[in-house]
Amino acid sequence: MIKNDKFGWRHIGPRSHEIDQMLKTIGVKSMDELIDQTVPKNIRLDKPLDLGPGLTERQYYRKIHDLAKKNKVFNTYIGMGYYDTITPAVILRNVFENPVWYTSYTPYQAEISQGRLEALLNYQTMICDLTGFKLANASLLDEATAAAEAMVMMYNTRSRTQQKAGTNVILVDEKVWPQTLDVLMTRAEPLGIELKVGNYKEFGFNSQVFGVLVQYPNSDGNIEDYTALVETAHKNECKVAVAADLMGLALLTPPGEWDADICFGSSQRFGVPMGYGGPHAAFFAAKDEYKRSMPGRIIGVSKDANGNRALRMALQTREQHIKREKATSNICTAQALLATMAGFYGVYHGPRGIYSIAARIHSIANLLSKEIEKLGYKHLNEFFFDTVRFSLPRHVKREDIEWLSLDLEMNFRYFDNGEVGLSIDETTNVDDINWIIEVFAKAANKPIPTFTDYPGECLLDEKIARKSEYLQLDVFNRYRSETEMMRYIKKLETRDISLTHSMISLGSCTMKLNAATEMLPLSWIEFSGIHPFVPKNQAMGYQIMMEELKRDLAQITGFADISLMPNSGAAGEYAGLMVIMAYHKGRGDDHRKVCLIPSSAHGTNPASAAMAGMDIVVTPCDERGNIDVEALKLKAEEHKDDLAALMITYPSTHGVFEASVTEICNIIHQYGGQVYMDGANMNAQVGLTSPGKIGADVCHLNLHKTFAIPHGGGGPGVGPIAVAKHLVEFLPSHSVMNNGHVGIHAVSAAPWGSASVLPITYGYIKMLGGDGLRKATEVAILNANYIAHHLKENYGILYTGENGRVAHEMILEARHLKQASGISETDISKRLMDYGFHAPTLSFPVHGTLMVEPTESESKDELDRFIETMNSIYNEIKEVETGVADKDDNVLKNAPHTQFMCIDDEWNHSYARTKAAYPLNWIRENKFWPPVTRIDDAYGDRNLVCTCAPVEE
Ligand SMILES: Cc1ncc(COP(=O)(O)O)c(C=O)c1O
Repeated sequence: MIKNDKFGWRHIGPRSHEIDQMLKTIGVKSMDELIDQTVPKNIRLDKPLDLGPGLTERQYYRKIHDLAKKNKVFNTYIGMGYYDTITPAVILRNVFENPVWYTSYTPYQAEISQGRLEALLNYQTMICDLTGFKLANASLLDEATAAAEAMVMMYNTRSRTQQKAGTNVILVDEKVWPQTLDVLMTRAEPLGIELKVGNYKEFGFNSQVFGVLVQYPNSDGNIEDYTALVETAHKNECKVAVAADLMGLALLTPPGEWDADICFGSSQRFGVPMGYGGPHAAFFAAKDEYKRSMPGRIIGVSKDANGNRALRMALQTREQHIKREKATSNICTAQALLATMAGFYGVYHGPRGIYSIAARIHSIANLLSKEIEKLGYKHLNEFFFDTVRFSLPRHVKREDIEWLSLDLEMNFRYFDNGEVGLSIDETTNVDDINWIIEVFAKAANKPIPTFTDYPGECLLDEKIARKSEYLQLDVFNRYRSETEMMRYIKKLETRDISLTHSMISLGSCTMKLNAATEMLPLSWIEFSGIHPFVPKNQAMGYQIMMEELKRDLAQITGFADISLMPNSGAAGEYAGLMVIMAYHKGRGDDHRKVCLIPSSAHGTNPASAAMAGMDIVVTPCDERGNIDVEALKLKAEEHKDDLAALMITYPSTHGVFEASVTEICNIIHQYGGQVYMDGANMNAQVGLTSPGKIGADVCHLNLHKTFAIPHGGGGPGVGPIAVAKHLVEFLPSHSVMNNGHVGIHAVSAAPWGSASVLPITYGYIKMLGGDGLRKATEVAILNANYIAHHLKENYGILYTGENGRVAHEMILEARHLKQASGISETDISKRLMDYGFHAPTLSFPVHGTLMVEPTESESKDELDRFIETMNSIYNEIKEVETGVADKDDNVLKNAPHTQFMCIDDEWNHSYARTKAAYPLNWIRENKFWPPVTRIDDAYGDRNLVCTCAPVEE
């Protein structure tokens, strides 16, 4: 029983008396009995989590507020890929702080995701316009991983001759961000790509080189003319990828216009706060010919069954690049919410607004370059956008500048050779100009000039200035007043189903409550306004919180240490596998490359293993859905000399706690391998068992599943890895900041990954406490078993554990229904929309099935509504099967039904309108109208359009 002032009382859906009822319904006397029947005894924790009692929401608010006060918000001119920005309040309040936008899932069910698909299409259009390309995706994880994706895409698209010749060299200019280089090194090595880093002017091309990567402006702030480089590269059959500053592209000739092949970077400075390193959306644009090789999600335009324009994720609906062991990337969760925000920033400011922001930044940088030179410093950039670099007069020491700037609460950039840099951003104003100049003047013992204004005009050299227009489409030229913008955001919002509407029972995704108290601190400037490379003593609130969070997560997982760096579950998988590979190498076992992966694994598992340079061997499951232990033993033995790891998901993706898991771990260890546990299903473990207890060596956690970070319509995510003691020394380091680890190269751009969303998980753990976390797990298991109990007769539960129980999710059979009636799992998923529900996970891990995960946050009432809906749909299927309903013209095949269909003057269907729209009475009370009907996937892929079109089209 949870006291009603405790957060757990709000987080958990069913009330205490309902929990008792539900236990009774499923045939057990107590929660303990259910858990005993579900979680094997040999892996149960022998003592409760020692995380203290849960705090009330009020207590937590105080605690996190105290931590926030320990972060010092200075004006930061460090740049290096992170810039202060102004999030328009209309976007902050109506998108960032709006649960419709932040609690929705990746738009796999496109018909009820038209709002965020439209917002992401705006984003792609903006990226295409600014970079000068015709193809862009809807975001990657960060600039550094986007660089790695560009490298790998260029590598994968080598010509046949190059592949035959083993062409494997990429030339990288030495003036890319250090964190970009860091991640490139991590990602190149296991794929056999050789990085040659040097001055781009001295690049030597030969038949071994497949690509070139440069930055624009480069890390010194210089705008280089790369046109000759591109020409030479192309003559030598090499592709060119360019890291670009998105704001700079408003003024500079874009890479698409000088024939580069790929342009990527961060869209952070388009209204997304720095947040101590993330989350931010990386953009990625390329020539049209790369559309089939492009990583990430591409939003495309298609049409629905009535011929109306409708949007969807293009190219195989999901992720074309995750092709199991043939994968070219493992990116799954990306940065949808942040891309949405950046897209809205473009919509709100429009071409003139974006131009004037960029122009002001440049004119301030220009003014500073001149004024600081007058004080005796030497300005070193010939052409620049926002960044100016100075060498100091002989009598001025770098320490003087540093001391004086810190005294005025400012951070500058200090280069290794003693030079000083400043990157100007959209927030820089006249006061800031005066403070900056004061520092340089005082350090040089010169009188301090004062400015009352800065020059309005943008004096960019004609040679580098952009001539082409951008953001000309209607959507970027309509919404200038806040009222109009608010209404536009609202208009899109009403087209999406999110957790504000109903349960989203996506198996393996854990769509639980993202509590308001957990979310509140994210908007505070003390968390949002911190640059990731500031001295640690300015971010003590963050540092203390992260240390505590790591300790708590280490205890929850039963491991020794945590890296917070990976930005998604798949990024965690990759990081964990790289740690395992480093461990083997450290022992002289370089040859250990075989990674065993059960056939039921999520596609990102083999994709990550392939990226880590491992050889994938698939192991089968038995008829109960469990890993076939005998077959695994044989495989492990067969590969004993080269065995590196086993990747397992626990409880399995089949929704079952396999009793043999410890035996499985022992087998792998016996043959010298390490056990990697995919933590997607941690929601069934917390407080009851742990990856450490089970016998694994590494696991990643999806903080955006189990630990309450919202999905944001497809990101952000956080995928920290937890490791046993012997692997701690291999955790990823960072080239700019000491993040406490000294192992492999970085896996993300920022030292602590997406730090600004960590308060969500911190709050979740602090407010639930040890007991609340266990209770949440228990109720998640109860909720799943309650649904399974009610749907097993009509649908059938594909797999259960030894005692007939499911874990926190279950796979509903739909194949027998299809066979008998012709109604598929897709028809069921679309019909659910008419009832106001988002479909469960479709056809994963078993084709033709639906995987349901209710989570602990859903109330009994909501579970009952879902059960009633599923059973009502079952009856509708039976009507088709028995001929009561027409085989083709029925509520399932025509689903979802839009408002336009139902109130059209014509109605030619064999069933009533009310049956289409209000199949159950309670739906009338809170009807969600899908804005489009069934979308034509094939049409969208055949006619790929991934930007907005002019209104007349
Ligand atoms: C079992 C499993 N593993 C890995 C992933 C990948 O996680 P992410 O999308 O955060 O990269 C998922 C995502 O749904 C998953 O369900």
